Amino acid sequence: MNLRPEQTPPSSTFAGPSQSEGDVNHSVRRKQWQADSLEASTRSLLARDSAAFLHQSVSTPCLNGIAKAQGIWIEDTAGRRYMDFHGNNVHHVGYAHPQVITAIKHQLDTLSFAPRRFANDRAVELAEALSTRFKSLTGSPGKVLFTTGGSDAVEVAIKLARIATGRFKTLSFWDSFHGAGLGASSVGGESLFRSGRAVGPLLPGTEHVAPFGCYRCAYGHTVDVNGQPDIASCKLACANMVRYVLQREGDVAAVVAEPARAVPFIPPPGYWAAVRQACNERGTLLIFDEIPTGLGKTGRFFAAEHDGAHPDIMVLGKALGGGVLPIAACIARADLDVAGSFALGHYTHEKNPVTAAAALATLDVIEREQLVQNAADVGAYALERLLEMKEHHPLIGDVRGRGLLIGIELVSDRAAKIPATDPAEAVLYAAMSRGLSFKTTMGNVLTLTPPLITTRAQMAQALDILDQCLREVAAH
Ligand SMILES: Cc1ncc(COP(=O)(O)O)c(C=O)c1O
Repeated sequence: MNLRPEQTPPSSTFAGPSQSEGDVNHSVRRKQWQADSLEASTRSLLARDSAAFLHQSVSTPCLNGIAKAQGIWIEDTAGRRYMDFHGNNVHHVGYAHPQVITAIKHQLDTLSFAPRRFANDRAVELAEALSTRFKSLTGSPGKVLFTTGGSDAVEVAIKLARIATGRFKTLSFWDSFHGAGLGASSVGGESLFRSGRAVGPLLPGTEHVAPFGCYRCAYGHTVDVNGQPDIASCKLACANMVRYVLQREGDVAAVVAEPARAVPFIPPPGYWAAVRQACNERGTLLIFDEIPTGLGKTGRFFAAEHDGAHPDIMVLGKALGGGVLPIAACIARADLDVAGSFALGHYTHEKNPVTAAAALATLDVIEREQLVQNAADVGAYALERLLEMKEHHPLIGDVRGRGLLIGIELVSDRAAKIPATDPAEAVLYAAMSRGLSFKTTMGNVLTLTPPLITTRAQMAQALDILDQCLREVAAH
C-alpha cells in the first residue's frame, strides 16, 4: 500500500509533536545515557522489544530493561537499583506489596473470573467501598462501573454525562491528558495524542479552554516570589473563562478535568468553587479525573478534597490495582444512574474478582498504613527542601506540588521563564546514573511522583541526588 504524503511516517528530522506527557524516547541525551550505561544483554533485550512492539512516543523504543520491582525500588536487568519516583502513578502502596499479592493469589484460587451476568462478592464489595468514599466527598452515594484502563473509564464518564444531560459537548483543558482512546484523546489537550495530521478528526463538541497554571498563566497574570498568585489582581481569569465558555456554548454536558493537574499544577484558591458554581448555573456536570492523583497521592484521599468542590462523576485508576493489575472505575452520583437501557461500558473484565481483590487490598493497605498522612508529611518536607534548593539553584524557576505530586520547573532565565529543556533532560539522566528515576513533563518540569510508602529518609536521599545533579548540570 502506498501512503499519501500526509500519512508518511515522520522522517528522522521531524521533531514530532511537543512532549508534554513525558521525556523524549528518541533524544540524543537518551542515546548517550544508553551508550554509557547499558550492557550487552540489556541492549539485546531492547533491540528485541523495539523489533516486536509498535513504536510510539514516550514508550517504545524503551530506555532500559527491568528485572524486579519491589517497594519503592526497581532493579534493571544489569542489577542496578533505582528509587522509582515515577512509577506511572500505579505504585502508591509500593511494588509487590505482600498484602496485595496475597489477596490476588487467594482470589485466583477461589474465583478467578466472573462473566458479567454473574454477581460476585469481591466486585460488589469494591463498588460499595468506593461508593462510601465518594459519599464522604460529595455527600451523595456513588454508583460504579469498572473498566480495565483509565482511558476507558473516562469515556464511560463522558458517555454517562451525555446520556444524563441529553447534550454532547464537553469542556476540558488544553495540555491535559485523559487517556489514549479516541474519545479520551479528544477531551485531552496534548498534541502528542491529538496531532491532527496523523490521527484525523476527533470527537465533535470537545471544546477546550486554557487551564489554570499560575506560574505560566495563560491570561498573563504573575505570581509572587513564592509562586503564589495574586487572586485580588487576577480575579481568577482562568475560572472566569470556563464560566464564559459554558455560558456561550450553553449546552455543555460536562467539564472534564483533573482537580490538580499531573504536570503538576495546583489550582489557585477558589478555582474549583468558581467552576462548580458555573457548572451549576448551566446544568453542566463536573467530571474529575483522579486517575493519577486519587487514592492519597496529594496528601488527601481525593485530590478534590483540597479545594472543597464536589464532582458529579469521578474517575479512578492506576494505583487502584495495587501496582499489579489493571483496574479503573467511573463513580457517579447515584441519581445519575439513568442509562439502564444503554451499554455504557460493557467491558469484558467489568466485574473481574481478581482485579477487585487487588483493589480492595490496596484500599486496606492505604488505610492501615496511614499512607495518605505519610504522603502529606513527606510531601510537605520535600516542598520545604525544594524551596530551599531553589534559593541556591538559579535553574529552578518554580517548585510546586501537593503531597507526593511534585514539580520542579527548570528555566534558563528566571525573569523570562525560558524553559530549560535540555538541562532538565541532563538532570534526568544524571539522576538515573545515581539511582533515582522520575520523568520530565512539558520538557522542562522534573516531575516527582514517588509511592505513598516513601519515607522521609528516602525522600531526603532522593533530594540529595537531585541537588547534586542540578549542581553538576549548572556547572557544565
Ligand atoms: C489524568 C489521566 N487520565 C487518564 C489516564 C489514562 O489511564 P490509562 O493509561 O489507564 O488508560 C492517565 C494515564 O496516565 C492520566 O494520567
